[in-house]
Amino acid sequence: RTSLRSVAESRGFDVGAAVDADLLRNDAGYWKLLRREFTTVTPENALKMGPLRPSPDTYDFGDADAVVNFGLEYDMTVRGHTLVWHNQTPEWFEEWAYTDDGIEGFLRDHIHTVAGRYRDKIDVWDVVNEAIADDGSMRETVWYDAMGEAYLDEAFGWADDVTDADLYYNDYGADGINEKSDAVYDLITGMLDRDVPIDGVGLQLHALHDEPDPGSVAENVYRFEDLGLDVQITEMDVAYPEGEVPEDHREQQAQYYRSIVEACLDTGCETLVTWGVRDGDSWVPGWFSGLTDDPLLFDGSTPKPAYHAIMDVLAEG
Ligand code: G3I
Repeated sequence: RTSLRSVAESRGFDVGAAVDADLLRNDAGYWKLLRREFTTVTPENALKMGPLRPSPDTYDFGDADAVVNFGLEYDMTVRGHTLVWHNQTPEWFEEWAYTDDGIEGFLRDHIHTVAGRYRDKIDVWDVVNEAIADDGSMRETVWYDAMGEAYLDEAFGWADDVTDADLYYNDYGADGINEKSDAVYDLITGMLDRDVPIDGVGLQLHALHDEPDPGSVAENVYRFEDLGLDVQITEMDVAYPEGEVPEDHREQQAQYYRSIVEACLDTGCETLVTWGVRDGDSWVPGWFSGLTDDPLLFDGSTPKPAYHAIMDVLAEG
């Protein structure tokens, strides 16, 4: 049967998944699905600061290299996730005595080392992830506390020092037009006014019960494109809260995936990454109780209606 990859390639569209390095090494079925069905890979955790930095003066690139080299081997686009985030900072980070300029120097060295290592291998970086709080204010992270809002400008500049990859800002809950995406829009227009080297915006699109509305996502994509930026869907999954689960929720889920791909095709967004390969690999069940636990495209090795819906809309040409 044709694969999602072959249909996506025929449309010049990148469809991908977040990848777990252990599964890639140890699960042949997982490896085959990734190889056959997707055109882009994102290490789910391996390129985050915590997993990379077992101690203040050592890096462990083993898992990241495994995912990145798999992507290169099979001619896939590789997305780097993520250079600056408030979660998954290293275990030792909290008690590590640092001054504010200590943090600045630490972050500069981290970004130069990591983005520099993958200079010709990673095509797109989520340079900063989730800098805006849910109410639209600046999220008060260790980076913000130490460096103020300028930490974003600095981080993008340091990445630009060492790589030609496209440099993205990535966030959740800012997919459609809302208070948070307005704040992201303001943040980014400010960065552009200061000539910060930013190329794109990642919309994570962790969807709940067919929200955000695809039309609102399209409107949001258009306003970032009007700034000269590219937009990618970077972490999509579709779950339903208990008590609101539609009778045929897998069919409804398929329609929702389809509607987002249609919005992508309409707006010129050319990349859609799902946050995991198979339902059993998804982060959702471990992090949330009371949600359906099948948010992705595959049930084990079996493609679900959502997979076929994406395939159909990409094949429509
Ligand atoms: O690998 C270690 C293992 O060695 C250890 O024994 C175990 C228990 O401590 O932890 C394992 O690491 C876990 C890792 O997932 C790998 O399974 C971390 O504790 C756990 O925090 C981590 O969760 C990840 C989460 O980000 C961290 O915040 C999820 O897998 C990952 O799907 C999720 O992805 C995020 C994106 O990066 C940003 N957008 C939201 C998205 C969902 O939260």
